[in-house]
Amino acid sequence: MSVAELKTKLKQVESEAVAALARAQSSQQLEELRLEFLGQKGTLTTVLRGLGLLSKEERPQVGELANLVKERIVNALSARLNELYQIELNQRLAAEAIDITLPGSGHSLGHVHPLTAVTTEITNIFYGMGFTLAEGPELETEYYNFDALNTPPDHPARDEQDTFYTSAGPQVVLRSQTSTVQIRVMEKQKPPVRIISPGRVYRNEEVNARKYPLFHQFEGLLIDRNVTFGQLKGCLNEFIRLFFGKQLKTRFRPDFFPFTEPSAELDSQCPFCLGSGCKTCGHRGWLELLGCGMVDPNVLNGVGIDPEEWSGFAFGMGIDRLTMLKYGVNDIRHFFSSDLRFLQQF
Ligand code: DAH
Repeated sequence: MSVAELKTKLKQVESEAVAALARAQSSQQLEELRLEFLGQKGTLTTVLRGLGLLSKEERPQVGELANLVKERIVNALSARLNELYQIELNQRLAAEAIDITLPGSGHSLGHVHPLTAVTTEITNIFYGMGFTLAEGPELETEYYNFDALNTPPDHPARDEQDTFYTSAGPQVVLRSQTSTVQIRVMEKQKPPVRIISPGRVYRNEEVNARKYPLFHQFEGLLIDRNVTFGQLKGCLNEFIRLFFGKQLKTRFRPDFFPFTEPSAELDSQCPFCLGSGCKTCGHRGWLELLGCGMVDPNVLNGVGIDPEEWSGFAFGMGIDRLTMLKYGVNDIRHFFSSDLRFLQQF
């Protein structure tokens, strides 16, 4: 080819390439065009090979134009590449856009069970009086559930009618009271002792609105020097004031528990009618709240604590009952039904 022909050819390639590049619709198409014009076997490369056939004098005349043409094609390529990148980016952004005005799917949060809430509340009141938390197993031996608590073998509570005996062993029972924890703590810890222990207890009872074979108790134990019944009263009166959020009259009625002497039942003035009588207190004006007393010397002797040197008080209350009173729940079975219509009210 002559110089003139090559120049014409170069210009032709340039205009073809520039036009084709401008029409390219995707970066992939652009890459194909790059190979078509600038690749090893590309149109421009082929034309440039013709340069080798020119004479030394002719070559620079075409070479200058050849470089220009190549540069313009490369520029056109990168310009279109940028444009396409922007277009493709905008398309992706539009396609993947999130509608932030749509309502979220959301996860509904649960909340604590009313029994747990009341247990925490009672626990916190006693923490405030310097008590610490103690725990014991629900599967117990008769020793901890009865013997160590000064309960004689012929006591009716030991009957199978009242207590669940298990096949885990001849003397293994589901604990019927949290008083077991008193013994477990005193075996390990030398006085002074000041603990509370909430937990599940089990009794072989027929189910009704007030009774369920599983329920919850809250135990308290304080052992120190010269502990008095007056201190027990002060401690429990303060608990009732904080739990019901008001000052209520209390009365201690003599009662019997094998592990305390003397023992008492604590009643408080009904927090709802303040004593005038209502449905909650069965028109008595008083609520029976808990059992308590001074720790029996036999119990202390049994765990190797000298009753001449140390004395103490203990108390135990039903958490389910306190929760029913506090929230006006009329059937204990609601607590265990997992019925959301009930639970969502708290
Ligand atoms: N454990 C007793 C019960 O289940 C409650 C009780 C009464 C606990 C007197 C005590 C206490 O610590 O001193 O009925």
